[in-house]
Amino acid sequence: MKRFENQVAIISGGADGLGKGIAGRIASEGGTVAVFDINEKLLQQAVSEFRKRGFTVESYFVDISSESAVQKAIHEVEKKFGKIDIMVNSAGIVGPTSTKITDYTVEDYDRIYAINLRGSFLMTKYAATAMEKNNYGRILLIASIAGKEGNPFMAGYSSMKAGVIGLVKGIGKEYAETGPCRHQDGDERKHRAGAIGLHDCQDTYEAPGDRGGSSFHFCVDRIEGIKFYNRVYI
Ligand SMILES: NC(=O)c1ccc[n+]([C@@H]2O[C@H](COP(=O)([O-])OP(=O)(O)OC[C@H]3O[C@@H](n4cnc5c(N)ncnc54)[C@H](O)[C@@H]3O)[C@@H](O)[C@H]2O)c1
Repeated sequence: MKRFENQVAIISGGADGLGKGIAGRIASEGGTVAVFDINEKLLQQAVSEFRKRGFTVESYFVDISSESAVQKAIHEVEKKFGKIDIMVNSAGIVGPTSTKITDYTVEDYDRIYAINLRGSFLMTKYAATAMEKNNYGRILLIASIAGKEGNPFMAGYSSMKAGVIGLVKGIGKEYAETGPCRHQDGDERKHRAGAIGLHDCQDTYEAPGDRGGSSFHFCVDRIEGIKFYNRVYI
C-alpha cells in the first residue's frame, strides 16, 4: 500500500516552491491532493503537470488570508472527497527585506500578517474543524528560522513566523491527548503527544527549481488523533 493511499491532502501555496514539491510528493505516493493558491496561472500549470504524471489533483483558487474563501474551499474539498486527512500550509510571502523598521510601512506589516499568520490560523482552524469529524488529521505549518532567531531588516516576516511557531505549539497542546505518533520510516522512536504536543518526524520533500531539498517534520501514520507539525529550520 502506498503511504498516502486513501488520504486527502490540502496544500496551500501548492502551485509553486515548497508547496508544489510537497503536493507532488504526496500525490506520487497515492494521495489525493487539493492545491490551494492565489496565482491562477501557476495553479493551472501545476495541476496540469501533476495530471500528466497521473496524479489525482484538484485546483482551488483561494486567498488564505480571506476567512470566507478558506472556509468555502475547505468545505468544497470535504464535499468532493469526503474527508480531509492532511493540511500543509505552505502559502506565504516574504514581504520587504533590507528594510529598517523605521522604514517598514504599516501596510506592508498588515499584509504579511494577513497572509503568513492570519492565513495559518484560518487554514488550521477550518482544516481541524473538518478533521475532528474523523478524529484524524495531520497539519503542517511552515515557519522559518526567521521566526526562531529573528532576521534583521525583515520585521514583518520575522514577527509572523514567530507567530506561526507559537500558533503550532499552542494548538499542538490543545490536541496533545490524542495519542502517540510512530515514525513510518523504520524509526521506532515513539513520542508521547501529551509530553511534547508536537511531533518530531523527518521527511524530505524536494522543492522544484533551485531551492534544493528541505527536510520537514512530518509524519503520517494510521493512529487516530489530530497532530500538528512545525517546520522551523529551512
Ligand atoms: N524557500 C525558502 O527557503 C523558505 C525558508 C523558510 C521558510 N519558507 C516558507 O515556506 C513557505 C513556502 O515558501 P516558498 O519559498 O516555497 O514560496 P513560493 O513563493 O515559491 O511559493 C509560495 C506560494 O504561495 C502562494 N501564495 C502567496 N500568497 C498566497 C495567498 N494569500 N493565498 C494563497 N496562496 C498564496 C504563491 O502564489 C506561491 O505559489 C512560505 O511560508 C515561506 O515563508 C521558505
